[in-house]
Amino acid sequence: MQQSTERKALLEALRVRLAESPVVALLGARQVGKTTLAEQVAADWTGPTVIFDLERSNVLKALQSTPEKLLAESVGLVIVDEVQRLPELFALLRPLCDDRKRKAVFLLLGSASWDLVKGVSETLAGRIQFVDVSGFSLTEVGVERQDRLWLRGGFPRAFLAETTAAWERWMENFTRTFLERDIPGLGSKVAPASLGRFWRMLAHFHGQTWNAADLARSMDVSVTAVNHYRDLLTGTFLLRVLPPWFENLGKRLVKSPKVYLRDSGILHHLLGLGEMLELRTHPRYGASWEGFALEQCLIAHGEREAYFYGTQRGAELDLLLLRRGRRWGFEFKCTDAPKTTKSMHVALDDLKLEHLWVVYPGSLRYEMTEKITALPLREIGHPRA
Ligand SMILES: Nc1ncnc2c1ncn2[C@@H]1O[C@H](COP(=O)(O)OP(=O)(O)OP(=O)(O)O)[C@@H](O)[C@H]1O
Ligand SMILES: [Mg+2]
Repeated sequence: MQQSTERKALLEALRVRLAESPVVALLGARQVGKTTLAEQVAADWTGPTVIFDLERSNVLKALQSTPEKLLAESVGLVIVDEVQRLPELFALLRPLCDDRKRKAVFLLLGSASWDLVKGVSETLAGRIQFVDVSGFSLTEVGVERQDRLWLRGGFPRAFLAETTAAWERWMENFTRTFLERDIPGLGSKVAPASLGRFWRMLAHFHGQTWNAADLARSMDVSVTAVNHYRDLLTGTFLLRVLPPWFENLGKRLVKSPKVYLRDSGILHHLLGLGEMLELRTHPRYGASWEGFALEQCLIAHGEREAYFYGTQRGAELDLLLLRRGRRWGFEFKCTDAPKTTKSMHVALDDLKLEHLWVVYPGSLRYEMTEKITALPLREIGHPRA
């Protein structure tokens, strides 16, 4: 039996939101631990709880045939797992939320973004709050396991696998199930082999600007097709599309987004890397760090208002976060002792950053200039100027 890793911040976020809203949605990729979190919330709930797991066909059928009755009669915490299987539910939840005699709160779990699930759109606007869940964070697993988290990624079973061979088998199985079962389950007609090829190709483009025409040419498919593949992987929380920052600075700016595979373990699996030594000597080593540190930064600070910045002349900033009216800059550098670069000064100046942190794998925080600090990844949650 594997040990359970505590996910305090997520459990707390769920509890707080369930106290505030009639509906809370917990969204994240397959296998990140949504059901486990929901079960933990249910275990601590004072009062009745009920779980509808729509992945079980008898439960799905029951909810399809008499949804109003089942939902309206529910009291306490009502968990609906794999909610994307029954999009009709959202319209039914709305009157329940507005019923002043309501006796239930709803926790909906989903592994596809609602843009992918037809018919959801604005139905529950104003009544729902969202909690995003990714794989394990560095805070959850502990800093002493940073390399393991980076190499294997944050999916609990992948991270906790006893051996590299077991990790590889898990990854193989996850990617195959995703392509052959989960994607068709969302109603997509995309051929698993084509999406799989796109996914592997993206591993080589990890951390680069999105160029649909290039990818379409290399894969010999249409631009529309690669854009569709991209949306499928983004909507299932496996791909990060980081939009470019734009403002009129009188400079020519990069206008395409950057793309990253969100889980570093999947990246490494698709690149055929299973050991730290192989990663350290791989050409995508720096890009891998960049993506890993970026995801940890977004887990710590939230995903909204996050951009990258690039000028056609080559100045770049890996991440710009707009927070409380301030502009924070982050660079992710996989070196032992980061140094300032011209590009950092350009970004500071162009973007009027309050501060710029250079996030690296080491353990020492140090000031490089008044406005640039070298920051160990383990301190990403509290950067301080
Ligand atoms: N905090 C944790 N510590 C240890 N193992 C965990 C933790 N959370 C989840 N797991 C394990 O990871 C696997 C996936 O977890 P879970 O079923 O909760 O994920 P899920 O997001 O609901 O997946 P799916 O989308 O496939 O339903 C399970 O084997 C579970 O035991
Ligand atoms: Mg589940």
